[in-house]
Amino acid sequence: MAEIPVITIDGPGGSGKGTIAALLAERLGWHLLDSGALYRVVGAVALTRVIPLDDDGRLAAMATGLHIRITQDAVLVDGVDMTARIREEEVSEAASRVAARQPVRDAILELQRAQRRFPGLVADGRDMGTVVFPEAPLKVYLDATVQVRAERRYNQLKNKGLSVSLAALLASIQERDERDRRRAVAPLRPAPGAILIDSTNMSIEAVLSRVLDEARSLGLTPST
Ligand code: DC
Repeated sequence: MAEIPVITIDGPGGSGKGTIAALLAERLGWHLLDSGALYRVVGAVALTRVIPLDDDGRLAAMATGLHIRITQDAVLVDGVDMTARIREEEVSEAASRVAARQPVRDAILELQRAQRRFPGLVADGRDMGTVVFPEAPLKVYLDATVQVRAERRYNQLKNKGLSVSLAALLASIQERDERDRRRAVAPLRPAPGAILIDSTNMSIEAVLSRVLDEARSLGLTPST
């Protein structure tokens, strides 16, 4: 298990880490872990079942009991397709709240580590490098200004046909960032040894090639 390589990509929402992680996994032929989707599922199911977002006992029991399957284009929870639902604003908010609860994080820790399968894993989240895979050979921390991140999220949602106001989105992203950074458990911060990339003025291709260069220099990419 220890020899299966992991590349962790952490950072705030809208920094481009989801896109970069997916492209990197595709390029390397590795598995992909979108850990945010797991917190989103827990948040969404808590809303459906009317579980208070600070009820640690019920949240952890629920999270442990869920059967979550994430494929390339769908998120299935106990066989139900929740792909679109988990991206809604209401769920983003709930996800950020349940993610601040230690028992919820503990409940999905092993599920995350179990994604480390041959030939490798690209793990996207907030604490991939600090908590879940601290021994990963390559850790990336991707950031961008809050304005640019809000615009990216706005365009993503618009392309999915969801309607939101940019100002409201900016405010809620700022609030969630604060919560993710200030929480006592697994706060969002660069892992020791992580390479820091500010994607504010970078194209997706430029960020991807920077990460691939790092991976290559560590001997993590197929030699061609
Ligand atoms: O990356 P995302 O927006 O899909 O993440 C949803 C929420 O889950 C966000 O508020 C941060 C939280 N999260 C976390 O605490 N730890 C992770 N590894 C991934 C996401």
